[in-house]
Amino acid sequence: MALHIIDHPLVQHKLSLMRCKETSTMKFRELLKEIAMFMGYEITRDFPLTYEEIETPLMKMSAPKISGKKVVIAPILRAGLGMVDGLTTLIPSARVGHIGMYRDEETCLPVFYYYKMPANKDRLVIVTDPMLATGGSACDAISRLKADGYKSIRLMCLVASPQGVQAVTEQHPDVDIYLAALDDDLNEKNYILPGLGDAGDRIFGTR
Ligand code: PRP
Ligand code: URA
Repeated sequence: MALHIIDHPLVQHKLSLMRCKETSTMKFRELLKEIAMFMGYEITRDFPLTYEEIETPLMKMSAPKISGKKVVIAPILRAGLGMVDGLTTLIPSARVGHIGMYRDEETCLPVFYYYKMPANKDRLVIVTDPMLATGGSACDAISRLKADGYKSIRLMCLVASPQGVQAVTEQHPDVDIYLAALDDDLNEKNYILPGLGDAGDRIFGTR
């Protein structure tokens, strides 16, 4: 397992704007899309290249093109949806699956309600969810993908707690985690501190 924290100044600046409680739903959504795009550069950094002969207006050359690494983006509903557009802007050929789950307000345990993924299990799956709090949702989503036959899985979140990172690391040591920030702790309701509040509500304006 590797933990990648994307500390690019543009990502950090945009995340600070997202954390502010005054930031509007429209702006929050726009910033999340932009950060997902920047994070997409890192998550695709090791994609292999193949070389093809092409002709520029001046001469022939051996030109690099991405080979292999067919991708499925798998947002955990609802909040993970906010990171899909940024990634599909970078990887237009990516398929998009959906993993429906919410965290029960009392128990904080994840509850499944929907699962739809493409048939080809050889693709790399990028699971998206802005918040990795206790890690319960991400761990269960990854277990479900593995049970379905997917072998190559990466997790892309915006903000995580140390507890969430530890849970994923212990249960899924083969899954690399990509974050914009590793925060300090969880509060008594298992919200990330300092965090940014309820990501789904802030993206969809449901509070
Ligand atoms: C949030 C968030 C994660 C989960 C994180 O979703 O988007 O999926 O909680 O918490 P965990 O790491 O403790 O499992 P939520 O259940 O609020 O659903 P929503 O996206 O529909 O708002
Ligand atoms: N879900 C959120 O949206 N935010 C948190 O801080 C924790 C879980």
